[in-house]
Amino acid sequence: MAGVEGRVVAITGAGGGIGREHALLFAEHGAKVVVNDLGGSRDGSGGGSQMADETVQLIKDAGGEAVANYDNVATPDGGAGVVEAALDTFGRIDVVVCNAGILRDRSFHNMTDEEWEAVVNVHLFGTYYPVKAAWPHLRDQGFGRVVVTTSTSGIFGNFGQANYGAAKLAVVGLINTLAIEGAKRSITANAVAPVAATRMTEDIMSEEMLEKLEPAYISPAVVHLASEECDESGSIILAAGGRYSKIQYFQSPGHEFDHLPGVEELAANWEAITDMSEAAPRR
Ligand code: NAI
Repeated sequence: MAGVEGRVVAITGAGGGIGREHALLFAEHGAKVVVNDLGGSRDGSGGGSQMADETVQLIKDAGGEAVANYDNVATPDGGAGVVEAALDTFGRIDVVVCNAGILRDRSFHNMTDEEWEAVVNVHLFGTYYPVKAAWPHLRDQGFGRVVVTTSTSGIFGNFGQANYGAAKLAVVGLINTLAIEGAKRSITANAVAPVAATRMTEDIMSEEMLEKLEPAYISPAVVHLASEECDESGSIILAAGGRYSKIQYFQSPGHEFDHLPGVEELAANWEAITDMSEAAPRR
């Protein structure tokens, strides 16, 4: 197989925004797509089948293959349900794209436990459950692609998004380990950090910015990461408008003591410890 032709791809949160663009592009490239979406509002409330159904219809109208799934991926049964939909309809699962997301923005000082939990549940557990359900199948067939969705809000921080940022960086921790554990069986795991004009960003970005940030720009990066010939793994790819780049950790050479340093001695060497001028990429 080349690219994603004939592959079976499950995409969470594909009823709108960025996820819908992923679904359309995968289908255009010959993949069979499970379009998951619980059809809720931006904060995760409500639900319905319309959003997922619309994406499926768009794919079918263009001659592609797709099936809708309305599970809540933030539950074990929901995550498993997305993978079951792939197995029941198309007989296999090759690619899991975790894209579903909600926002409950509030400064940390004012954030409630409920706001924290709702966001962590959808972004972190909603990534874990479908990947966990797919993993045995990916291992057994010796091929798999996992693409999760992170955010600059987690990587760099953003006011009012402590819950979202924590959950979004947690999925990077997940793919770091999946990349290592999946390597022997040709399973790759990567994270995409999108910047796009969707309902999620419509009131946080200026009109001028939004115009340049069509969500469709994110999808070529995801389809490429999912393709047979792409062996990138354990990476974060930032996609924002027409610019695609990689984000990586760097480590300073630091300072090594030949004895247990006291706090004062450590503080005296702080400049050398934190000097990034000769920092090198990790891994
Ligand atoms: P969106 O709100 O249009 O899309 C999210 C989709 O996920 C919605 O269709 C929603 O119904 C679905 N969803 C929410 N909770 C779900 C659940 N529990 N189970 C199944 N489906 C669920 O927003 P957008 O912008 O398309 O976001 C897509 C992903 O990209 C999210 O993970 C978001 O955090 C991430 N992201 C977006 C950025 C942007 O600039 N738009 C920036 C950074 C990250």
